[in-house]
Amino acid sequence: MHYRRMPIEVESPEQFGYDNIACNLAESSVTDGLLDDLDLDLKGLVLAYGDHFGKPELRQIIAADGDSLRPDDVLLTVGAAAALFIVSTSLLNAGDRLLVVFPNYATNIETPRQMGCEMDYFRLTFEQGYRLDVDALAERITPATRLVSLTCPHNPTGSMIARRDLERLVALVEARGIRLLFDETYREMSFAEELPPAASLSPNVISVSSLSKTYGLPGIRMGWILCRDPNLMQTFLAAKEQIFISNSVVDEKIAYQYLRRKAEHLGRIRAHIRQNFDIIRQWMSEQSDMEWVEPQGGCVCFPRIRPDSGVDVERFYTILNTVYKTWTGPGHWFESDRRHMRIGYGWPKREELEAGLRHISEALLAAKD
Ligand SMILES: Cc1ncc(COP(=O)(O)O)c(C=O)c1O
Repeated sequence: MHYRRMPIEVESPEQFGYDNIACNLAESSVTDGLLDDLDLDLKGLVLAYGDHFGKPELRQIIAADGDSLRPDDVLLTVGAAAALFIVSTSLLNAGDRLLVVFPNYATNIETPRQMGCEMDYFRLTFEQGYRLDVDALAERITPATRLVSLTCPHNPTGSMIARRDLERLVALVEARGIRLLFDETYREMSFAEELPPAASLSPNVISVSSLSKTYGLPGIRMGWILCRDPNLMQTFLAAKEQIFISNSVVDEKIAYQYLRRKAEHLGRIRAHIRQNFDIIRQWMSEQSDMEWVEPQGGCVCFPRIRPDSGVDVERFYTILNTVYKTWTGPGHWFESDRRHMRIGYGWPKREELEAGLRHISEALLAAKD
């Protein structure tokens, strides 16, 4: 395994310093929660190692999301990031072949690539509305393919697959006797039909998710793996034990108390995303230098500067970042052309989003030849 830092982490707002940014449109979550607002009771908590699978009552709440899921099908991890690492390193070895959707959240590509796996990329394109064509994907699966890996709602574009397509995909991996890694970290933020946890559909599917994105709690680093294959879960548990043994009991207790009031939180969060989505949709409809594929879920989108706009892309970013102190996720975070930028519209408050979008319009204008 070769580690190298990824641009999306090196250049992340938290590494640059939140205080140096006036308008933060670079995040892929809703607004970060404030501990004081969570009404927690942590008294009497013993700071011991926790259950290695994770706090049972918390796993019970998470399992209740899927009809056929049981608490034993849930393994708590340190964010979805650790879940993805555990899955990759448990299922793959150097030289193993996988088919991964591109672009993608960087870790979904970087970990298997640095492990020395044979990477096949299934490209989602702007021209095809970032739609995942299951038939075309099926044609790319070879006898050597061990894993198909995708993210839905998709990061960075916010595109989704329909339930019927998910079911076809699941049938496909079952028929081939391979696994599907389904990163559903944005599952509960969807404007289209909300999908069930993909792992509830088949023991061949591994779902990954966390409290970081929909719930805005990345600071407690609470994620999970869902899988109905008990043997595989033992392997994932062995990996977890070798990396961090158990989760922080403090994080688990906060997550448990938070998720007990999940419906209440979701109502508030969805209203906020919807409001901000309407703002960015209105703004996009007024832009002549930008084009996008309207997202169907999540809280990010991936618009691009039109090639014929006359905008000097590098000048645009310089002006946006230095004059306006406004941050977006530039295309290179996703190994894509820098004409693309990921805009996170769920994190900022309404006023910050409106100001940030105005700054993008003004920087585009100022960066014209
Ligand atoms: C699709 C996706 N998966 C996983 C992660 C990792 O998130 P965390 O480890 O905070 O749960 C991210 C973070 O941006 C993401 O966008």
